[in-house]
Amino acid sequence: MSKIVVKKSKPLRGEIKIPGAKNSVLKLMAASILAEKECMLENVPDLSDVAVMCKLLRALGLDIKRNVKKSSMKITPAVEPSGEPPYELMESMRASVIVLGPLLAKKGKVKLSMPGGCEIGNRPIDLHIKGLMALGAKVYYGYMDDDGRSVITEDIVTLARIKSSNGYIVIEAPKEGLKGADIYLDFPSVGATENIMLAATRAKGTTIIQNAAKEPEITDLAQFINALGGKVFGAGSDTIRIEGVEHFGGTHYRTIPDRIIAITYMLAAVITRGEISLLNVMPSHFKSVTAKLKEMGVEIMEESDVMHIKAPQERLKGTVLTTLPYPGIPTDVQAPFTALLAVSNGKSVITENVFENRFLHVPELVKLGAKIVTDGHTATIEGVDHLKGAEVKATDLRCGAALVLAGLVAEGTTVIDNVFHIDRGYPRIEKDLQALGAQVERLDDQEKAPGKMSTSKNVGNEKHVKSSKK
Ligand code: UD1
Repeated sequence: MSKIVVKKSKPLRGEIKIPGAKNSVLKLMAASILAEKECMLENVPDLSDVAVMCKLLRALGLDIKRNVKKSSMKITPAVEPSGEPPYELMESMRASVIVLGPLLAKKGKVKLSMPGGCEIGNRPIDLHIKGLMALGAKVYYGYMDDDGRSVITEDIVTLARIKSSNGYIVIEAPKEGLKGADIYLDFPSVGATENIMLAATRAKGTTIIQNAAKEPEITDLAQFINALGGKVFGAGSDTIRIEGVEHFGGTHYRTIPDRIIAITYMLAAVITRGEISLLNVMPSHFKSVTAKLKEMGVEIMEESDVMHIKAPQERLKGTVLTTLPYPGIPTDVQAPFTALLAVSNGKSVITENVFENRFLHVPELVKLGAKIVTDGHTATIEGVDHLKGAEVKATDLRCGAALVLAGLVAEGTTVIDNVFHIDRGYPRIEKDLQALGAQVERLDDQEKAPGKMSTSKNVGNEKHVKSSKK
């Protein structure tokens, strides 16, 4: 497996183009299941998660032709897609759950298998399921109980208690089709909002989603659905209205830029006290972060799709940071922010309000010398004036990004293992950072020692299909 090797680097300088958003393009690809004509997607990032979604859609019968060089993708929809997405692909990427909505809308029935050990409680999709049920879908689970008896239940709570089962879940629309409904989400879940929105596109009548997620990726998906001929109104606000339609066409569509990558590179510039420009960004998508960084003393200038970032030359002051659903500070940048605050002056407090158990990066940053203590949803950081390179492991995608940032300012060399996590969300992190002057390299599995920097033959485009679930 590859490793990323980071050496203490000079302040980053230069400009960098931000690719299309992973969390948007995966949903646009899934939404193409609804289409009846060809869809062309542009600004498609070259990520392992995109490769998994390609496999999944192909397994369902869609035809996909990618032009990685041009960052484009042509999707030819299936007249009769399969309603049984393969378990291995569903399991390898949490975002795969997004095919439920469009498949239910087009096929009327979706069946997912759940090999032994699958615990729905670990990956809750209860809000997705409740929303689909409100549209009239019947949901049931089949599994073997401890005595080897076959059981079918409609009770989601029962399933959550099953520790190990070989089973399946079926979601089925009534014969007369799904019917529009008023749905209130207990939490503004991004995935649930998207799945319900997609399922409702072909439901009879009007669906209203209240307390809907407002992330820019939701608005992008709604615009894509409308470009196909759907009728979605109010996306980006907490109330979304969907009028069901019978047919969809095709479209040519450009994915929004990745705000999480943009923020990660802003933080990379700030942690090294550098000065960079981001191209192909939508500054309005991360106002909460811009405001926080300005409050900490960073100079930021915005043009229409360009941002200039200039960090102060002295250590930043620690701060209080709280993650929230959009437009709050995104949970996906909490880990990279932890790296920055680990070397800021004085005390900082981070509160994570979106995901449980999202401080897995903390023990890795501590190995580099950070002083961080977690307690439930809170991390308290005592800023240190320097970190020290060590061997660390990316426990998940955003932890990987945090470790790269920390490595840029740690004395000596930092070697990061489990790089496949980083490849899920950053198409070319080492190349992007190299272009800004950072000492970051990828080592392939033949090259064990971190001593010498690798050459272009082993600075790879290696893609791993294995993914974590967040
Ligand atoms: C998406 C993003 C992810 C981001 C997250 C929050 C993708 C592929 N991933 O994930 O990068 O961190 O939004 O901005 O777009 N929950 C339930 N029941 C449900 C659904 C969610 O309890 O049925 C909980 C989750 O456990 C979590 C919270 O709601 O605590 C937010 O999850 P959600 O907004 O659904 O995130 P995802 O769509 O999975």
